[in-house]
Amino acid sequence: MNKDNINTVAHRWLNSYLKPEHICIDATCGNGNDTLFLAQRSSKVYGFDIQQQAIENTQKRCEKMTNVELFQMSHDLMEDVVHESVDCVIFNFGYLPKADPSIITLPHTSLKAVKSAMNLLRVGGVLVLCCYVGHPGGQEETDQIDEWILHQKAELLFTYRQDRPAAPILKILKKDA
Ligand SMILES: C[S@@+](CC[C@H](N)C(=O)[O-])C[C@H]1O[C@@H](n2cnc3c(N)ncnc32)[C@H](O)[C@@H]1O
Repeated sequence: MNKDNINTVAHRWLNSYLKPEHICIDATCGNGNDTLFLAQRSSKVYGFDIQQQAIENTQKRCEKMTNVELFQMSHDLMEDVVHESVDCVIFNFGYLPKADPSIITLPHTSLKAVKSAMNLLRVGGVLVLCCYVGHPGGQEETDQIDEWILHQKAELLFTYRQDRPAAPILKILKKDA
């Protein structure tokens, strides 16, 4: 039965992948749930979000953590500030729940950002993509990323989707070369 939401499933998968020495990126901090999860299981997390509210929420959520560095900037610019290889990058696309739904990830910048993430990943590192198709632009964003995936030297390790219309989709890719 595929009744768990994609975030629960992503965290379950990551729980057995992550190692204390790993370096991670949360490309969409939002309320900081993914950032905190990664920070509790790795040595360093770089976090990105364009919204001040999201950065503040994440700061608060991670106040006890000393291994989190947050940037209020678009994730497609992550290579400007991350200057080391990373083991895991997570994207949770869409908008911040209970906030302005017009501040949302966009197909063009999302595509640039996943390319940057792939550049930063070490071989064997994983890209975790939580894609939403139920809001305007979500299907286009997901389609562009799917097309991009086809041309990557990467293995699609895992996909998951709940059995309901317009359910979000989880994809986990391993960089192969
Ligand atoms: C679904 S929420 C993320 C949820 C979050 N991972 C969590 O655990 O709470 C999507 C977030 O993406 C952010 N976002 C939208 N466009 C962005 C961009 N270009 N760069 C970085 N973050 C962006 C939004 O502000 C929003 O906070």
